[in-house]
Amino acid sequence: MGLTRRTFDAVIVGGGGAGLRAALELARADLKVAVLSKVFPTRSHTVAAQGGVAAALGNSEEDNWHWHMYDTVKGSDYLGDQDAIEFMCRAAPEVVYELEHFGMPFDRLSDGRIYQRPFGGHMQAYGMNPVQRACAAADRTGHAMLHTLYQANVKAHTQFFVEWMALDLIRDREGDVLGVVAMEIETGEVMIFQARATLLATGGAARIFASSTNAFINTGDGLGMVARAGVPLQDMEFFQFHPTGVYGAGVLITEGVRGEGGYLLNKNGERFMERYAPNAKDLASRDVVSRAMATEIKEGRGAGKDGDYILLKLDHLGADVINKRLPGIREISIKFANADPIKEPIPVVPTAHYMMGGIPSNYRGQVVAPRGGNPEEVVRGLHAAGECACVSVHGANRLGCNSLLDLLVFGRAAARQIIDDLRSSPQARKDLPPDAGEMTLARLARLDSQKNGERVADVSAEMRRIMQHHCGVFRFPDLLVEGVKKIKETAARAARTEIQDKSKTFNTARVEALEFDNLVETAVASLISAEARKESRGSHDRADFPKRDDANWLKHTLYYKEGHRLEYKPVHTKPLTVEPFAPKARVY
Ligand code: FUM
Repeated sequence: MGLTRRTFDAVIVGGGGAGLRAALELARADLKVAVLSKVFPTRSHTVAAQGGVAAALGNSEEDNWHWHMYDTVKGSDYLGDQDAIEFMCRAAPEVVYELEHFGMPFDRLSDGRIYQRPFGGHMQAYGMNPVQRACAAADRTGHAMLHTLYQANVKAHTQFFVEWMALDLIRDREGDVLGVVAMEIETGEVMIFQARATLLATGGAARIFASSTNAFINTGDGLGMVARAGVPLQDMEFFQFHPTGVYGAGVLITEGVRGEGGYLLNKNGERFMERYAPNAKDLASRDVVSRAMATEIKEGRGAGKDGDYILLKLDHLGADVINKRLPGIREISIKFANADPIKEPIPVVPTAHYMMGGIPSNYRGQVVAPRGGNPEEVVRGLHAAGECACVSVHGANRLGCNSLLDLLVFGRAAARQIIDDLRSSPQARKDLPPDAGEMTLARLARLDSQKNGERVADVSAEMRRIMQHHCGVFRFPDLLVEGVKKIKETAARAARTEIQDKSKTFNTARVEALEFDNLVETAVASLISAEARKESRGSHDRADFPKRDDANWLKHTLYYKEGHRLEYKPVHTKPLTVEPFAPKARVY
């Protein structure tokens, strides 16, 4: 096979929050760990997380993990696995204090404790009224977190491979994962990273949509790798639209704005969320707020000359609060919307933001797939954490600030599981299969030799148009059916794309083509899963099935690349130690 090989105890793909939290745990356990990252780790997309990390610290008002658990189960529209949700909400205070001790520069209350702000769907006393649960570093919480974790990793001697793109998993005949094939972007060199544990922490894939808060690097690389290796993707129909992306630019305006007291207005100056969510108002969960905004626009109450955006008003908070708590938002608004929020409202629209589905995983960070009658057999050697993993703690709709929490809790949990596995069988290292790397080399050779193919930019623009039009905030049966047909045609075109530049050195065209393979896998999985789910739940809102249908659809979707096959598996409705929260009507 002729590829250079390097061996590690563990290889982590992705240098964002989940990858760095896991790497830190592994490096501190004296394991030899490699982190592969397409960008310098502190440029990973976690850096863009703004408003905070959720934990029931109760620093400003009474709170506890069980209320947090209730909110998360309800927010997930009951599709979240309650064992995993209990695990996450219980661990939240501990992982936040741990981060504080790593040096995280949280904002402080006057008594020195961590500052917390309200966030959508986070309530006191089982849904009574909004609670201050989001632990914040101004409106740059992800930025502060990523730098803190990176510095802790440098101290712990984690080995970073910066500007390396992982391309495919290496799986043997027994189905065990033995590492990855990766390419150094600077030189084009392809290498095998052999490891007894491979952790995917590749983040999200909202770049499948035309309007997205996500960075260009969010191309679903882990999902593409897993799908090509025969592992299913879970609950891909559930993509979250964040209510407040800057109109026209998509850049995120944190929900922390509404947490600090900002609110949404239609063109008549009406605070319309009072009609849709009389109790929580602008702090209802994201699916509810995004649908309300889209409805206002659809019914002719949008602002602007084309009536196609909503106004986010925060000038009443005053310059001091805006400059102290929301400085980044002011900067973004001036730069991308030409509006200074101290004086005028920000034009916003719901924008694709977060993938609730992903690589099926349990709360120990082990990837699971159906095998031998067990719907959740562990795929040995393969782990996932962060947005690319579907644990599933977010179910059909994620609460704001639960993503930074998710990546801390499950990055650490995955690493702890890896440490246990490696220590309990210290000698076991399997040989690589004879064909290791061949699929990747064939993909690269195809790109080098393709003639008369289409430009990646053209085919990927078509994918984004299809996703936006056929699989958006509101979903219609005819558009979904037509969307499936179109996205399959687009996937076929993706297999024939051509790049003009065949050079090896920092060839961004090649990288873009390889990323597009992953994006298109994600898009196909999402549309097919969405067309098949005949109900409305969380972020999946169908005009023809407007109600949640627990009798038939309280189950997780599994999509297989081969044959575009779908299977379903049960939701974990039983928590670890407490009584379950039974599904009921979801009102805010
Ligand atoms: O609104 C925000 O600050 C985003 C947070 C999140 O997605 O959790």
